[in-house]
Amino acid sequence: MSPSYSLLAVASLALCLPVTNGLAIATNDSYLEYAAAVYSLKDTYNSANFFSSFSLFSGADPTGGFVNYQGSLSSAQSAGLVNTNNNQVYMGVDHTSTLSTSSAGRPSIRVSSNKAYTHGLFIADIAHMPGSICGTWPAYWLVGPNWPAGGEIDIIEGVNTQSTNDITLHTSAGCSINISGSQGGTVLSNSNCNAGNAGNGCGVTTTTANAYGTSFNNNGGGVYAMQWETSGVYVWFWPHGSVPADITNGAPVTGNWGLPIVAFNGGSTCAVDSHFYSQQIVFDTTFCGQWAGAVWGSSSCSGLASSCNAYVAGNPSAFQQSYWLINSIKVYQQ
Ligand SMILES: *[C@@H]1O[C@H](CO)[C@@H](O)[C@H](O)[C@H]1NC(C)=O
Ligand SMILES: *[C@@H]1O[C@H](CO)[C@@H](O)[C@H](O)[C@H]1NC(C)=O
Repeated sequence: MSPSYSLLAVASLALCLPVTNGLAIATNDSYLEYAAAVYSLKDTYNSANFFSSFSLFSGADPTGGFVNYQGSLSSAQSAGLVNTNNNQVYMGVDHTSTLSTSSAGRPSIRVSSNKAYTHGLFIADIAHMPGSICGTWPAYWLVGPNWPAGGEIDIIEGVNTQSTNDITLHTSAGCSINISGSQGGTVLSNSNCNAGNAGNGCGVTTTTANAYGTSFNNNGGGVYAMQWETSGVYVWFWPHGSVPADITNGAPVTGNWGLPIVAFNGGSTCAVDSHFYSQQIVFDTTFCGQWAGAVWGSSSCSGLASSCNAYVAGNPSAFQQSYWLINSIKVYQQ
């Protein structure tokens, strides 16, 4: 089982953290606030406004990736890394250049919403995500200021040939969660969300089919909903074709959706509002680094090249499917 590392700077990482805490219990607990929430639409991000509402990150990857993040939108456009063809938001990586391992890394982008949010229901309709490809580490997440003070919510994340999604929270000290009320198949790796705890945060592995990587893409993508309120953080997923009508009608009612993939319950063990605030929405695709690179040697990818960086540098065409294609992201609040 892969530990989930923070997407921001992590000083030292203890690999191979033993998995604790075992089982998810599928129950319908009345304390789950999501059943009661009524939401209205605050922001829609789509091909019409995405690149004027999100900013490109430049500089070295805080997670140590072999990536050359392009900070200029016009250069990213002319390099074919981003476009808004067919009313969709495309964010890809360079898949034609053979690089040297001494280069800055493979060109890619990382974007953050200019607007920050506290609480809300974030509904991402995604047509394609980076595939389950050796060397890659894609993520869709939210992050607050002064990490880890403002917290981090990792909604979609994985590395290398991973086929199912990992969902993780990172906080400052003093927040631990339980996942009572999650779907069966969701397994808690660590209940302590403290990012100082070996960088792992509190996260789950999931078994939801077609919800990550290559299988997500082959099945035509889908919709992720993340609800964040005082009581906790909850995540649902549906493939296209099974999305609840209240979502497609623009009037989501979380109480109609049944159990989430994961319910991260705060309550008396985590004051959610003091650990999660003012978060920006982020998408990125990085390579190797503190997670994909750290587990390369023990992964099924290890035979492909002498190192993760060497594989990523030398095999551009492997990364043709390493792109996000987003229909929309809608942010609702109560
Ligand atoms: C939990 O049970 C109540 C009462 O049966 C029901 O109204 C509610 O929709 C259920 N919530 C979920 C998330 O299944
Ligand atoms: C999980 O957390 C909620 C919210 O704090 C709490 O009400 C519930 O009793 C906890 N469940 C378990 C099994 O610890």
